[in-house]
Order: sequence, then C-alpha cells, then structure tokens
Amino acid sequence: MGSATADNTTFAVTTPLYYVNGLPHIGSAYTTIAADVIARFHRLQGHSVLMITGTDEHGQKIQRTAQERNKAPQEHCDEIVLGFQSLWQQLNIAYDRFSRTTAPRHEAIVGEFFQRVWEQDDIYVGHQQGWYCVSCEEFKEERDLLAEKRCPIHTNKVVEWRDEQNYFFRLSKYQQQLEALYAERPDFIQPATRRNEVLSFVEQGLQDFSISRVNLDWGFPVPTDPKHTLYVWFDALLGYVTALLQPEEEPTLENAIARWWPINLHLIGKDILRFHAVYWPAMLMSAGLPLPGRVFGHGFLTKDGQKMGKSLGNTLDPVDLVSRYGADAVRYYFTKEIEFGRDGDFNEDRFINILNADLANDLGNLLNRTLKMAGRYCNGQVPVVDSASISPAHFLKSKGQGLAAVAAAAYEDLAFSQVCEGILTLVRASNKFLDDKAPWSLYKQGQQAETEAVLYAVLESVRLAAYLLSPVVPGLANAIYSQLGLTADFNQNDVGTHLPYADHSAWGYLPPGQPLGEAKPIFQRIEVGERIP
Ligand code: MSP
Repeated sequence: MGSATADNTTFAVTTPLYYVNGLPHIGSAYTTIAADVIARFHRLQGHSVLMITGTDEHGQKIQRTAQERNKAPQEHCDEIVLGFQSLWQQLNIAYDRFSRTTAPRHEAIVGEFFQRVWEQDDIYVGHQQGWYCVSCEEFKEERDLLAEKRCPIHTNKVVEWRDEQNYFFRLSKYQQQLEALYAERPDFIQPATRRNEVLSFVEQGLQDFSISRVNLDWGFPVPTDPKHTLYVWFDALLGYVTALLQPEEEPTLENAIARWWPINLHLIGKDILRFHAVYWPAMLMSAGLPLPGRVFGHGFLTKDGQKMGKSLGNTLDPVDLVSRYGADAVRYYFTKEIEFGRDGDFNEDRFINILNADLANDLGNLLNRTLKMAGRYCNGQVPVVDSASISPAHFLKSKGQGLAAVAAAAYEDLAFSQVCEGILTLVRASNKFLDDKAPWSLYKQGQQAETEAVLYAVLESVRLAAYLLSPVVPGLANAIYSQLGLTADFNQNDVGTHLPYADHSAWGYLPPGQPLGEAKPIFQRIEVGERIP
C-alpha cells in the first residue's frame, strides 16, 4: 500500500509489465531496481508513494511459450510470475502493486477504456499486412529488418508475414495533439536523446495501428467483436491503470484514476519507447484521461561489451548474481556504474572492484575503524560535540551541509550515478580527514576534545552518507544506522515519518552521548576467487 504521508505529495512510478515468456532477465531487474530506488527516495522524503510493477501475460509470444512447455497459458503464467516475485524479494524491491494483465478485473478496465475510445470513433476495421515480430509483438518496417528477415531487436528471430483483417486505432488523428504535447512539455520524454528519437519518428507522420488479432485466443476478446482478440500492447499499457485500484475495489476507470492518476513516471527501456511516448498518450487523449508526468527510457545493458542473448550464451542471470553477492551489491553496481539513460556494461571484475573499493573499503572500513576508536577513546558513545557549534567552514561539515540538496536534485533527475558519486565524495573526504587528523595520535597526546571532534565529524558524515544512499543500499543503511546506535528501518514504508527527512538529511543530526552499537564489517570484501567462472 502507499506509505503514510508527512506531506501531501504523491508519487506513482511504474516499471514495464514484463513478458512472462521466461524467467526475469537482467534487463527487467535493471528497470525494477531503478524504479525501487526512486520510489524509496520519495518515501524517505515523506511522500505517499505507489510503486507498480507486474507482468504482461497475453499475446502470441506467451501462448507459444506455454505451448512449447506443454502447459495451459494461465498455468504457465502463474509459474513464471512466482519467479518474478521471488527475484524482487531477493533484490529487496518494495513494490506496492503487482499488476497482472490476466487479472479478471483488468478485463473490466480494458473493456471500459475500449468503449470510451470506440465512442470517439477512434476504432475502425481495416486490413493489416506486414512483417510481425512475435518477440516484440510489433509490426516492423521492411527497411529495418536484418538479413533473412530477422528482427533488429531479436536478431535471432525471423519476422512473420501477416495479412488479416484487424481493428485499428486512429493514431493519425492525434498527430497535432502529440506534437503540441512534446512542445509544451519538453520533459515529457527523457533523456533528450530519446525525446529526439520520438520527435523524428512522429515528424514522419503517424499511421494508425492495429489493436486486434485474429487466430489468437490468448487475450481479451474485442468487446464489440469477440472473434478478434485485443492486441497485447493495448491491453498491457492499461495494466498501469488497473494497478491503481485498491485491492478489493470495484474495477471501474473512475475508481482506478481517483487517487494515483496521472502516474508521475513511467520507467522503461529504450526499445519500448514508441509505445509509451506515442501510442499511450494518444490512447489516453482519446479516452479523455490526463497524461502521465514523464516517460524515461533507459539504455541497454551489455556483458563484457557484448550484446547479451541466449543464443550468444552470455546472459547474466540476476537470480544467480543476487544469490552470490546480495541485494545491496547488485543494486549498487547498476545504480552507480551505469549512467541512467545510456547503455551500460556488466563486467564481473569491475563489479568486484567497485564493491570492494566503495562499499567494503571507503565506506565500510571507515565506519569500522572510527567506531573502534570511539569505543576506545569515547566510552563507546557518540562523542559529546555540539554540532551546531562546528564552523560551517569545517572540512566535512562544509561538504555535508549541501549534500542532501545536491543528492535530491540528482535523484529527481534520475541521475543515479551522480547521486552515488556525490555521496562517495563525502565518504572519501572523511577518510582523508581521518588520516590527516590522526585522532589516535591526538588521543595519545591527551587532546581529548580534539579527538572527539574528529571522530564526531567522521561518524556523522558516515551517517549522512548512509541516509542519502539508503534508497540504493537499504540493507547497508540499516546496518550503519544500527551500529551508530540509531533505531531505523529503511525498509519501512513510512520511513519518512519515523526518520524525518528534514532532520536526517542535515549534517549534524547524530545525537551526542548516544551509545554506539558494536563495530562489525558492514560489507564483506569479495575475494576474486568467488567470482563467477
Ligand atoms: N511487456 C512489454 C512491456 C509492456 S509495458 C506495458 C515488454 N516486456 S519485456 O519483458 O520484454 O521487457 C521489459 C524491459 O526489459 C523493457 O523495458 C526492456 O527495455 C528491458 N530490457 C530488455 N533487455 C534489456 C537489456 N539488455 N538491457 C536493459 N534493459 C533491457 O517489453
């Protein structure tokens, strides 16, 4: 459920609804981690948040996969869905809704929406001819195909010729309204490269697209003509709307859009941009619904510089990765190492190096040795220092004070690697400060006040870093807070209420004299021997 709210801001974010043709792959994990990070950051600020993920279960691709497995389609979907839900749990994804397009109430929402579009005279019967990629569930332009009529996205799959009567959605009617939308709301599609792709696509002139299929059972019948099955994408996009219903609520459009519509942010990969940035807003215009806040298309992941694929035998299994290294490690790597919006690479050596350098060393060791010193030199308590009296020009305070605002702006821009870099800058500065000030020597020289001042500043900087990084590495943040003697659970939905943002995002919060917890390594160094062969 949405979290308790400290102010009136609501924030709804979606991942794509993933196809259940197989177990989740690293691409689905990537978008879901990003959505979870931004949802958690909003919760931290006390906003009311709804994070939606789910599965897209209809269409030819799923029907065929089920057939290959000798399963009834629903049975197949139910099995695969468990795989998604279990991965999200392992990755510590705190979603509020899991939207399945086979849910009976989804059919009611789709039916009502279809009716609205129908009444606008935006649906008509026409003839569809063309090359269809079942893996994309999309018609392709002949000029875009690779040799032997292979799909440019699913390069090992050949497209299939279709020549049939379909129902069409009158997309062309929305050409001008869409152009006006992109002009009036330049942030609607992000990042800028994706926006430009959409603009040039729309400039070429929009064509109506078919929204029904014949010779396919696995889907909802077209309400006005049950011999046709509704096109999977028409049904899938509406899964975002169905997700907004309260669990037991009557499935009407009015109920669905009452609280959380319009959705603030759709996070997607770049391959499904057209559906979200062109078709979807046009469908919503037709149905008379307000449009979402923004659509952000992230890049594609490669492995060791190569496109991943089952046929290439170089897929990266997210279940395997998270089982070996844990949720925080996986979440941190993809958030920090890949500039969100651009293509990025996974390389296991780099993965290990970054985790060891940033989390085990810079952050983990820093906390560990500082806590041990505080144990010895300050009776195991937070040094008794009045943080308000520390000069704003102090080496760490000066860096810590503005950090929350910088991090918040970067989170808002979905510039996750900048968030991590910014926070790490404070952590690295703290290491340097500790080495330069050498509190162990100060203590030996009997300079108790100076020793405590140094240790306070470092512990407080680690606390602030943990707090601001908690949307990325909630487990680590919990461990750090607990070792600092603070009661916190960053996995609680109402985190913004029990750890008020204004207090915790400010440098100087750590209460002097508070008993510290036991110093234990928060992140085990990964030895190279543990790497996946
Ligand atoms: N079912 C549709 C979405 C419907 S939304 C109403 C779909 N599903 S999908 O499972 O095929 O794709 C899910 C997401 O995974 C897409 O956002 C896609 O961009 C992403 N990725 C697939 N391969 C990827 C990589 N190699 N790297 C990063 N993301 C990738 O499309």
